[in-house]
Formats: sequence, structure tokens, C-alpha cells
Amino acid sequence: MKRSFAKYKVFVTRSDMPEQGISLLKKECDVTLWNKPSPVPRADFLKSIPGMNAIFCALSDKIDKEVLEAAGSSLKVVSTISVGYDHIDLNECKKRGIRIGYTPDVLTDATAELTVALLLATSRRLSEAIDEARTGGWVSWAPTWMTGPGLQGATVGIAGFGRIGQAVAKRVKAFNTGKIIYYNRSEKREAKEIGADKVSFDDLLKKSDFIICCAALVPETKEIFNKAAFEKMKKSAIFVNTSRGQLVDQNALIEALQNNTIRAAGLDVTSPEPLPLDSPLLKMKNCVILPHIGSASIEARNTMSELVAKNILAALEGTNMPSELVI
Ligand code: DGY
Repeated sequence: MKRSFAKYKVFVTRSDMPEQGISLLKKECDVTLWNKPSPVPRADFLKSIPGMNAIFCALSDKIDKEVLEAAGSSLKVVSTISVGYDHIDLNECKKRGIRIGYTPDVLTDATAELTVALLLATSRRLSEAIDEARTGGWVSWAPTWMTGPGLQGATVGIAGFGRIGQAVAKRVKAFNTGKIIYYNRSEKREAKEIGADKVSFDDLLKKSDFIICCAALVPETKEIFNKAAFEKMKKSAIFVNTSRGQLVDQNALIEALQNNTIRAAGLDVTSPEPLPLDSPLLKMKNCVILPHIGSASIEARNTMSELVAKNILAALEGTNMPSELVI
């Protein structure tokens, strides 16, 4: 039976969503895109969505009660181009029977790759070294200049051992690391095969040379990396976060970096985003900041866009969504 979605209206919150998903939707639905390659301002968002059946959004769009009320009873599905869903009020969606689509799995490899890149950039001081090469600091080869700790033999601790945490563990193993330990609420059966051992959060902090945060942002994980946590880490520890900035008490991290409580940090995520230009983090040599590009491989972003569209089409049809967040 040929599907017909002509009657359905979809609002897309920015103009630069990858074409893969947009063209799929356009074949079947009436699609309205925000007209700029930046997040739709809140007031325009609220004005644009009354009567929409679906919202194609990103992590920069807060989907809360006010948005759901503005959209009204026609709204059937919110589909986000992200694996994280902390920007969506799940309970408000549930109350209204609005289904939620998200994009797990398809960005796991891209995010794990970037996490390893950030780990190496931070430990081997790549951005500092590039600056030195560009600005004349490179006067000769020097035996102790620009040195940083290697991964070989090191203990790597991963906080949050879901899809991305596991994919990171598999990749760092290739660097002949000593031990891989992880902290997760539940035991992960995949850990055995990967060769990772579950430890308490305290042990993760105390024993790791490199601590990588891959945990989802939920109320229980908010600011788990706080002053007390940084104080438990080794003075030589390197902290990397590619999950969400709100897992970290950022002022405590700034202090820990300034006081050499830990050696360095690599952050793909901050709080807020974008990180204000006057943030001390941007001036610190022992901090590498990336602008939330974990999933930004071309392949991952195209597939994510397609998955968002497929989630919308399935929800509008009332069938199984390829990736539905079941609350
Ligand atoms: C996500 O998907 O949640 C990432 O943070 C961005 O791709």
C-alpha cells in the first residue's frame, strides 16, 4: 500500500540539517525549515509550530511544556538529531502521547573516534604544539619540550559504559594500555570481552591515569565531576569529556586545572555551549576545547539526519520507529 503523508506538517528547527533526512521528508510531508543555519530563536520557534505534526530538532532546541503546548494536540512526534535527549521533557511528552525519536548507534563510532582524538590531543599537547610551530616557539628539537604522558601501560577509566564508552574502550586498547576500568550503574556484560573491569566511582577517580566521561546526563549524573571528585584524582590525571558539559562542575574543573590538582582536561562539551570567549578554560594551556563535534563525521551526520526522518515517518504512520525512545 502506498503511504501518503501529504497532510502531515513537519517543522525543522534549522536550515542546515543534512539533506538526506530533509529530502526523505519532503517526498512525503509538508516540510517547513527555519530559515537560518542556526538554532531557531525561542520566540520564532513558538510561533512556527502551532498545528505541526512533527518536530525535527537538535540538542540546542529545548523541548519543554511551553513548546508542546504551543504545538498543540496535532503534534505526534519529536525527533532529535542526537543520541542525548536531556533537552526534551520526557514526562511532558509522555503525558501528551507524543513519541520521541533519537539517533543512537549511528554516531557511536564517530563519537568514539573523536574521544580518542581528544584524549591524544590533550595528553600529547597538540594544540599547544601547533601554536608553538606557528608562532616561532619551535627553535630546535628539544628532549623534554612538549612532552606528555603516553597511553602505553596506563590505566584508563571510563565513566558510563554504554555504547560510546565501550567503543572508546575498544579503541584505547589498541594503544597497549595497562588496565581499562569502568564505572556504570549496572554491570555491562560486554565488559568481559572488552577486558574492562567494573569499579566504584571513587576507585575510578583514584586509580585512573586517564578519565573519560561518556555517561548520559540524567539527574543522578549532574555534576558528578565536582571539586571532591577532582581532588580524588591523581595529580597526573587527564580528564576528557565528550558527553555533556553539565556532568562537570565547571568552576571546580577550572580550579583543578589552575591549581594543578589534575594535569589537563580535554572537553568537547561545556556548560554553557557555546563556551563564552572569556572563559578561563580557553586561556589555559592544559585544557583543549572542541566545539561539541563528537558525532561530526560526514557519514554519521548524514545517517543521523536520515534516521530522524525515518523516525518521523514511522511515528506519523503509527508504526514502529527505527529508534524510538521508550519512556
Ligand atoms: C548527541 O548526539 O547527543 C551528541 O552530543 C551530538 O551528536
